[in-house]
Amino acid sequence: MEYQALLSGWTAPVLGVTALAIWLFYGQNKKKPYANIPVLSADRNEYLQNGRALLESGKKFQSCFQVQTGTNFKIVVPNRFATEIKNHPDLSFNDAHARDSFTSYPGLQPFREILENDTFIQEVVRRKLTQSLGLITADLVEETQLTYRDMFGESKEWQTRVIKSDVQDIIARLSSRVFLGLDLCRNKDWLDITKNYTYSSFEAISELRSHHALARPFAHWFSKNCTQARHYYKRAQVLIQPVVDRRKAQLQASLAEGEGSSKASDAIGWMVECARGRKIDYAAAQLSFSLAAIHLSSETMTMCLLQLCEMPELIEPLREDCRRVLDERGWTKQALQDMKLLDSFMRESQRTKDLLATSMLRYAKSPLVLSDGTVIPKGSTLMVMNDWAHSSEHFPNAETFDMKRFAKLREQPGEHNLHQFSTPSADQMGFGFGEHACPGRFFASNEIKIALCILLLEYDFEFMPGDDAPQDIKHEIVRLADPRARMRIRKREGTS
Ligand code: HEM
Repeated sequence: MEYQALLSGWTAPVLGVTALAIWLFYGQNKKKPYANIPVLSADRNEYLQNGRALLESGKKFQSCFQVQTGTNFKIVVPNRFATEIKNHPDLSFNDAHARDSFTSYPGLQPFREILENDTFIQEVVRRKLTQSLGLITADLVEETQLTYRDMFGESKEWQTRVIKSDVQDIIARLSSRVFLGLDLCRNKDWLDITKNYTYSSFEAISELRSHHALARPFAHWFSKNCTQARHYYKRAQVLIQPVVDRRKAQLQASLAEGEGSSKASDAIGWMVECARGRKIDYAAAQLSFSLAAIHLSSETMTMCLLQLCEMPELIEPLREDCRRVLDERGWTKQALQDMKLLDSFMRESQRTKDLLATSMLRYAKSPLVLSDGTVIPKGSTLMVMNDWAHSSEHFPNAETFDMKRFAKLREQPGEHNLHQFSTPSADQMGFGFGEHACPGRFFASNEIKIALCILLLEYDFEFMPGDDAPQDIKHEIVRLADPRARMRIRKREGTS
């Protein structure tokens, strides 16, 4: 009787719903590993907390293995297959990233703009940005000088700065000068939006990956990072739309006057020109430039600065390289090409401080057979190990930081144009590899070179005396610079 009473009224439906939820949570939604590929770890927390070390331990398998990540099982492919699969037509960049980036959630529209709107952003970067690098060098130099003056002032006394936060501000402003032009690049509101959207959206995605799939559709409404991403996206819309409208009117006017293009030299103009009738969410597209440009470029430049502070003996030879080239050529695109030691330093920094332990995240649209017979099943996601960068088989004394390593390689006959910071290769996939290798790498290379070169020539900088050496932050497969690391900086004697 008691038992029946218990099941009467509301109790039975409540118990039923609870049981269904538990079944869905732990049973139905449990991701299954792919057949015939060894499983290294089925514990998503192991990957989320310690992914880099976990993947290192997977090398015992000699070929592919799989791990449970925050979203699904992923197949980890050894570095030696990078060249074999780099342009495979059935491996999709967009499908893989869309699955990992929750692009359908409100506030994450900029990710959708990169991944789902055909190849619009890629076209703008490849066809317009990269081809304008010669034209925008002077703008980048001017903006760097103004930014440093605003940020560090003219004082020849030491002042204390937080490295990563400053670099984020520098890159946000330089990138905005190119993506938005003078209209908005010094606008405090925009700089606040562009920097904070980038960080809150990446944090939001990382946080969502750590939630269970069934919890995500609710969790995102309550998550602070998701709420901020939505907030900054809305603010971007309010700020960007009037500028877009103005630029569209200019373009139409110049077309009406018979000019082929508006001769636009910033990304709004380029987007309007590349849209060709496609429906573009300009605020999202503009934020997607920020996402692509600010996060990884800032981390890269921060790592460079941290290594210069760790190895101050590198500073003077780099200064000398920059000074010599600028004396010969002035600030031109060719001068940036000629800064071979600085370029080599940046590539060595990227090799030793890789931001991602794997590269080439791809979704298999059909089954794929690797040359060792491993079958990558249809519907699986794979990523390629980026560990050759740390191997002495590929780089003699790989554990030693050798600033001249790549400059020396470029001196070999026929190798002059190889081994550059912006050259993707199977043994250095910081910009990815193959068809989808980062199209923004030439811009990123020039932007970071200009920012480092002016800092080297005009400022002294070093770690704060007494501070502990900063430790990299590692989670999932990511390595990030310590946001607390500080330096002291002063204007150099003899600079005005
Ligand atoms: C140092 C800075 C940067 C790093 C380390 C970096 C790294 C990467 C990586 C690893 C990929 C994936 C490539 C692959 O899977 O093969 C990528 C893709 C991409 N990056 Fe960058 N990136 C940087 C700067 C930029 C900048 C400044 C822009 C834009 C101006 C940009 C735009 C893009 C775009 C649009 C894609 C997608 C490519 C595609 O869909 O084919 N990146 N980047």
